[in-house]
Amino acid sequence: MNSTGTNPLRKRGTLHSIEIFRLDRDGLAQHLESIAEILLACVHDGANVGFVSPFDLNQARAFWVQKIAPGLVANTRVVLAAKVNDQVAGTVQLNLDTPPNQPHRADVSKLLVHPKYRMLGVGRALMEQIESYGLNAGRRLLTLDTATDIAEKLYISLGYERAGHIPGYAREPHEERFVGTTIMYKVIR
Ligand SMILES: CC(C)(COP(=O)(O)OP(=O)(O)OC[C@H]1O[C@@H](n2cnc3c(N)ncnc32)[C@H](O)[C@@H]1OP(=O)(O)O)[C@@H](O)C(=O)NCCC(=O)NCCS
Repeated sequence: MNSTGTNPLRKRGTLHSIEIFRLDRDGLAQHLESIAEILLACVHDGANVGFVSPFDLNQARAFWVQKIAPGLVANTRVVLAAKVNDQVAGTVQLNLDTPPNQPHRADVSKLLVHPKYRMLGVGRALMEQIESYGLNAGRRLLTLDTATDIAEKLYISLGYERAGHIPGYAREPHEERFVGTTIMYKVIR
């Protein structure tokens, strides 16, 4: 990653340029369609990220506008987006709205990469960048939970530790089946 946040890399024989940038309220409004489309595509693809079928674009837009935008206005949430070859391809968030006794902690959430742009290093690049936003905000303990093996392996490779596993935590998006979640943490410095 260079100083402008652009990371040219080559995978599957093609040169991809990954640019990571922060979305404020105006940026979210500007990129709402693509960011909502990423959430929709991930849920339709089976990602267990809080939503169940039927789930449509209006609900995806509503999530960003109603649940996420207020934290951008209040400056209690960092939302990053990633562009691959100038197309918005992924996103991740850091929730800084922790209780007064946890001023050193932040929650990482909603790491989402559009299925079209997977396995190009976008998820890893987003996680690496969100960590530096945590550090800049004075947060030394990052916490998250994940229902997927792929994401868990990615987090472990980035230095996150497993705190434990809760079985039967969340319903799958497309079927009446409950899966567990792994709680993870990382001390950053
Ligand atoms: C998990 C997710 C964010 C990974 O995004 P990505 O951009 O494809 O990840 P990267 O390309 O940065 O790959 C990161 C690592 O995971 C591995 N990986 C990614 N997808 C994989 C797959 N389907 N099978 C096996 N390994 C995989 C990569 O090989 C890479 O390992 P490496 O760096 O050692 O080569 C993406 O699959 C996703 O959006 N899933 C749905 C939403 C979700 O579950 N989010 C997590 C919520 S906690």
